[in-house]
Amino acid sequence: MTRKFISIICAAATLTAIADEKILFDFEDYSVGDKVAMRDYYSEDGSTASKAEITNDPTGKPGKVLHVKNASWNTLAELNLTGVTAEDIADGYGLIAFDLYRPNTETDHYRQFRCGIGDEYLHNVDNEFVFQGETGKWVSRTYPINPVNTTSDKFYIGFNSIDMEYYLDNIRIISTESDYDMTNPEETLRHHADKCGIGFGCAVPAWNDDVVDDNNIAAQTIYSNFNIIVGENQMKPAYLQPEKGKFSWWDADRLVGLAERHGMEIRGHTLVWHSQTLPWVTSDGYKNDKGNGGKGYTRDELLKIMKDHITTVMTRYKGKIREWDVVNECLDDDQSIVYSQPSKYNMRKSVWYNVIGEDFLDSAFVYAHRADPEAILYINDYGADFKGDAKTEAYYNLVKRLLKSNIPVHGVGFQCHLGLGVDAAKFENNVKRYADLGVEVSLTELDITTWEAGNYEQHIRQGEDYKALMDVALKHDHIRNFVVWGVTDDKSWRSPDPLLFNSEYKPKYAFFALRNTLEAWANEHAAGIEETISDKNQATSPFVNVYDITGRLVKHGLERGQINSLEPGLYIIDRKKILIR
Ligand code: G3I
Repeated sequence: MTRKFISIICAAATLTAIADEKILFDFEDYSVGDKVAMRDYYSEDGSTASKAEITNDPTGKPGKVLHVKNASWNTLAELNLTGVTAEDIADGYGLIAFDLYRPNTETDHYRQFRCGIGDEYLHNVDNEFVFQGETGKWVSRTYPINPVNTTSDKFYIGFNSIDMEYYLDNIRIISTESDYDMTNPEETLRHHADKCGIGFGCAVPAWNDDVVDDNNIAAQTIYSNFNIIVGENQMKPAYLQPEKGKFSWWDADRLVGLAERHGMEIRGHTLVWHSQTLPWVTSDGYKNDKGNGGKGYTRDELLKIMKDHITTVMTRYKGKIREWDVVNECLDDDQSIVYSQPSKYNMRKSVWYNVIGEDFLDSAFVYAHRADPEAILYINDYGADFKGDAKTEAYYNLVKRLLKSNIPVHGVGFQCHLGLGVDAAKFENNVKRYADLGVEVSLTELDITTWEAGNYEQHIRQGEDYKALMDVALKHDHIRNFVVWGVTDDKSWRSPDPLLFNSEYKPKYAFFALRNTLEAWANEHAAGIEETISDKNQATSPFVNVYDITGRLVKHGLERGQINSLEPGLYIIDRKKILIR
């Protein structure tokens, strides 16, 4: 299956998928040259130097648009509502959207948007200067609006600035009643992710029974919307082997049980890490002090400790866990070395590195592959997501070194702990090159914080960022999983508002942005697939990943019907050994 990049769906279209949208003005029933009144809210005699008129589209596209040249503060274009009243708008329409074009002469990018009916404001935030997108192109803008109580049919819209020139088109209101019923597969994220053949997952928080009680909204939200899960903490070394030789499986087993009951795949996180690691090895992840300041272990002793942990854990979950973060965050944050030596990297001086040496990495992957030859083995790190950053290049160098050493690294995880304003192009330019290394890639811990809690405008920007990353993931076959690091904002390790659901498990704008993108992609590329993967235990995914007997990814997303077209040889497909003669 070759996933082509689909046309970018603008934010308002995303909202359209949520609920109803009503066009207020598209200016097609005006004539080019028609003057439009401008109202200066503070002008004594109503006069203003600002001008508005109907013109052709400045990009040359067919159609008529509103052109405004502000020359005084507090002036908005005055339009006449027809067929819609303030009462209609107040009835469930919580958003206003419009297309905005600012010429390249526009230098100030942060502007105050306002709109209203009569003397009341639908949206008016005096001190909120918002980034209005790139100049020289049409961008879609969306703002929350408040209901107003007036009988006026005068509609006002514009930007509160003395020096702004801009064009508006397709001014529309959008209802915000969300169509989300998780008992209806068509309205869940998983249904559409399954059809796209992408692993769409979440981290499952520990320490509350809700997440594994099928009758609880937490568990229901998880298995309804995700097809792969990972323990946020449950499978970390400190939780699985809190004392030397004494394993605690209870929480991890509950996670596996949840996945098995609902046909979800599992990511194992993580086997070797400097944080939340074996507390009887090190007190801080760096000291070789047996966790109590004592005399540390020798290299051979620590290699055996690492091997025993990996082997014990992977053996217990063999055949149940698709993939493991074998080593997590092994790079130092300072990778300035790449500026003088572009092919180098700087290892984190963890206890594993300090006592064993860099080859603790190599050994960890070899032990893991021996423990479960069919498991997909990942290296995972943060701060290495965007092309051009030093750590990004260092990570790429490290993966190439491991592969050159024939170490069975099958997947590269990008944690993606991000903030608003994601540069998806830089992410794509980074991850696309891993396809040539023959490894799969996953977004393993995605969360995108906003700037202030509860700000709907920022939730919209957040949704656009999530969507932009999903567009990249769908475009590249070797990107296997898109995993968000948690379910509800209130339980996230970050704030404000980083995830897809609020504390009441209500979907946020980002949920709909992702669902819309997945649905559109599936409709365009996965048409003809009758059933979604309702039970992964009878995995009937139309696409398979093919691995050679060493566990190396040979083909990502091969159509199931094409298996026999593989070169003769022994392969691992759906965890089974397949001989192609
Ligand atoms: O185990 C105790 C529990 O007994 C106690 O009641 C509770 C009270 O706060 O704390 C529990 O431990 C906390 C644990 O989360 C579970 O909530 C730890 O103190 C706390 O440090 C731990 O934080 C986790 C963090 O890793 C530790 O580094 C976060 O939940 C988890 O989201 C975060 O995840 C990491 C990934 O594994 C790797 N990538 C970075 C990411 C963020 O740090």
